[in-house]
Amino acid sequence: MCEQKKERPALMPASACNKWWQKAVVYQVYPRSFQDSSGDGIGDLRGIISRLDYLKTLGVDAIWLSPVYCSPQDDNGYDISDYRDIDPMFGTLEDMKQLIGEAKKRNIRIVMDLVLNHTSDEHRWFKEAKKGWDNPYHDYYVWRDGKEGVPPNDMKAAFGGSAWTWVPELSQYYFHQFSVKQPDLNWDNPKVRREIYDMILWWMALGVGGFRLDVIDQIAKVPDEKITANGPKLHEYIREMSRETFQKGDLITVGEAWGATPELAKLYSNPDGSEFSMVFQFQHMMLDQQEGREKWDLSPLPFVKLKKNLAGWQQALYGCGWNSLFWDNHDLPRIVSHWGNDGVYREKSAKMLATILHGMQGTPYIYQGEELGMTNADFESIDQFRDIETLNMYRERIEKGYDPEDVMCSVHAKSRDNARTPMQWDDSENAGFTTGTPWIGVNGNYKTINAASQVGRPDSVFSYYQKLIGLRKAYDIFADGYFELLMPEDPQIFVYTRTDEQTEMLVYANFYDKEADCPVLSDWADAQCLIANEDRAPKRTALHAYEAGILVRKR
Ligand code: GLC
Repeated sequence: MCEQKKERPALMPASACNKWWQKAVVYQVYPRSFQDSSGDGIGDLRGIISRLDYLKTLGVDAIWLSPVYCSPQDDNGYDISDYRDIDPMFGTLEDMKQLIGEAKKRNIRIVMDLVLNHTSDEHRWFKEAKKGWDNPYHDYYVWRDGKEGVPPNDMKAAFGGSAWTWVPELSQYYFHQFSVKQPDLNWDNPKVRREIYDMILWWMALGVGGFRLDVIDQIAKVPDEKITANGPKLHEYIREMSRETFQKGDLITVGEAWGATPELAKLYSNPDGSEFSMVFQFQHMMLDQQEGREKWDLSPLPFVKLKKNLAGWQQALYGCGWNSLFWDNHDLPRIVSHWGNDGVYREKSAKMLATILHGMQGTPYIYQGEELGMTNADFESIDQFRDIETLNMYRERIEKGYDPEDVMCSVHAKSRDNARTPMQWDDSENAGFTTGTPWIGVNGNYKTINAASQVGRPDSVFSYYQKLIGLRKAYDIFADGYFELLMPEDPQIFVYTRTDEQTEMLVYANFYDKEADCPVLSDWADAQCLIANEDRAPKRTALHAYEAGILVRKR
């Protein structure tokens, strides 16, 4: 794992960060939970259009839209059955075009989620592929001969069970890294790659502003050698895709790579533009699981390791790569519940976490509701959960004899549904999300935590995010400043500097609910405060619970 470097390199000029997405902030919309316009209890595209002004007020530059393509919804759209059409549940292609156009009017770009590692088993290609070994689509997927009941090897699928599923008509197994309904595409087949590139070009022609590439590190798998992530041909394929598609436009492209290291990230986000704009990696988010075990096997957050990990990434990519900055997404629990405090310090700790993240180099991502300090789902029973990963894990562990209480403990801490409850717009029924029955329960705290009560209130979490986004636009140092971690071994304080040719900035935070001393603040008594979640008396060096802020001065 990466650690901070000892010596500061030559500072890069501000002009080195001249790509639009280096000063941008991206907002992730999880469409089924954002805004329903039809009353069927599921969010949709027209609902998103109706909330564009809200996102404009927040100040974001792009919307990453989780998948809205036709899909049987086995994995909430990450199982695509037609890449060139919209699922009727979300609307029509006309609605999509309108969303792109309406967003553009507000200077917001739409970033599509591309799931290219696998399709749905209901995609036309797979239906054809199953018809026979000599079908032209057969080789679009990954097949191995075998005997029923004796899979080619013991590889496991991410959502439980074997990664191989038997098709009796063909006497063959197909390979799937996720659910049985998500067969892996065969990227070694040039025809598959061409189909994908043509589809990407088709979306580019519709005016989308970029792409998020789902589990892209897994496309070049070699199942016979049990290789899933980082296959030998991975970067060759990504470079080809980038050349054939992305490089023909001015896009933001972000590769999701759970297995990325800083060295690999330099390839993904090479400033020469040969792969993607940036990488979306999870090392920091995986620090609180037991080593070598699954994400459900919890262990306390090693705070010092978290600081050093983030610092290491900051320094490793300085001038030679670009990272995404995030705490939350649709696969993670809500950060304020997870590493903050969703009790009395909810607002304060939400602002603290935002300060740390938005002070760093990279492109910040805000997941819907994070800007309100929304909390984990308040479900009590497993029947209230909807996520395939959660439900499969629950069943498997109960079958294996785990204590149901322990399993529920993991579910409450880590289930993806924690972040998938409906967006809390106001204090009306169903939080203003739908007039129907929501597909998943609304969090009971929507009467107090909702957008209507926060927009325009100067001390709200929303206003704090709005201000952070504005600062990134106003000060180059957010994009170009060199990062140095101070007090690295301190068990409670997260404090770092950013430095460019003209300016230096101090980002300080108390990560916990007890007061702690931050002596470096005494060196910054003359600096200007850009943002803070609590006013500071100039000479005070102690930080109250969850106190955080950003100071700046000329060098
Ligand atoms: C990514 C998505 C996740 C999905 C998986 C399979 O990690 O973010 O939601 O289940 O890929 O497509």
